[in-house]
Amino acid sequence: MKVAIGCDHAGFGLKEAIKMEFRKDRTIEFVDVGTYSTESVDYPDFAKKVVEKVLSGEVDRGILICGTGIGMSITANKFKGIRATLCFNEELAGLSRRHNDSNVLVLPGRFMEVSKAVRMIKIWQKLPFDGGRHERRLEKIKEIERHTENFVSEEKQ
Ligand code: RB5
Repeated sequence: MKVAIGCDHAGFGLKEAIKMEFRKDRTIEFVDVGTYSTESVDYPDFAKKVVEKVLSGEVDRGILICGTGIGMSITANKFKGIRATLCFNEELAGLSRRHNDSNVLVLPGRFMEVSKAVRMIKIWQKLPFDGGRHERRLEKIKEIERHTENFVSEEKQ
């Protein structure tokens, strides 16, 4: 699986550790969009880079990391077609795939141990979307996305 991974300065340490852990595993090929140091940056810039790769189909999914995960979630979920899920444990990571068809996993770099993040990613990587009643709910999200688009264009007139 090809995964774009991005972070801000507060997520840099966890991003590097995750890449290191999966170097042995080889089940994920990471496309690292930065940031590449602990120098202060703005998380929306990196959320955008990851999301664009997911939406263009260049990668299968994305992982985003900032201090809390909140800023990355807010930004990524502004993009139509992105289902970015901020998760804190293995169960949530699994449910975000099974119920929400998560295509971007968001992690809180300042509140997450490397070993837990790796376990979460492995679960998120392999679990499929359950479909069924959850499909209907995702359709409703798509409907909201369409409505929001119309709303914005009507506002501009
Ligand atoms: C950066 O200090 C911090 O605000 C950012 O990483 C993130 O937690 C924002 O939601």
